[in-house]
Amino acid sequence: MDLDRLINDRIRDIADYPKPGVMFKDITPLLADHVAFAGVVDAIVNHHGRGTIDKIVGIEARGFILAAPVAYHFGAGFVPVRKKGKLPARTYEETYDLEYGTETIQMHVDAFSPGDRVLIVDDVLATGGTAKAAAELVRRGGGEVVGLSVLIELSFLHGRDRLGDLDVHSLVTV
Ligand code: PRP
Repeated sequence: MDLDRLINDRIRDIADYPKPGVMFKDITPLLADHVAFAGVVDAIVNHHGRGTIDKIVGIEARGFILAAPVAYHFGAGFVPVRKKGKLPARTYEETYDLEYGTETIQMHVDAFSPGDRVLIVDDVLATGGTAKAAAELVRRGGGEVVGLSVLIELSFLHGRDRLGDLDVHSLVTV
């Protein structure tokens, strides 16, 4: 099976999770398959292969799983963006709208050196609210966002349109 087919094959649809009417993309079968998992990490690294990247930002929680091995491949540092209340030191925070209510994410104020080139990695791009907020945190922290890589883009939610001229790279488009 070629890599694209393998990756698609290892993403499982779970109907009505976490609530009725939602089709959840479960990536745990992909993570459990070392060929598919490594293929995803390699594809992200190869897409951004030219030019220096100093830091990889991973977004809690599933973004961490993909971002950490990407950071290792680049010889870059890893910076977590977490949900409010999880980071111990001083943070910047951004709040954005969800379908019902709001979400707040945070990043340590000293996560970057001035001018660090930063790639943001997450599992899913849906409405784009999380990615937009994460990019804003990076800019406030003094980093330069060079791109966003996601495993799955839910294109029918048009998240990409909220991200301006950011280089958005997705491996699977739904
Ligand atoms: C999911 C996903 C992205 C975000 C995308 O995170 O991992 O971070 O939603 O949605 P958006 O583009 O509409 O903002 P979730 O909040 O479910 O976090 P989890 O990984 O901790 O379950």
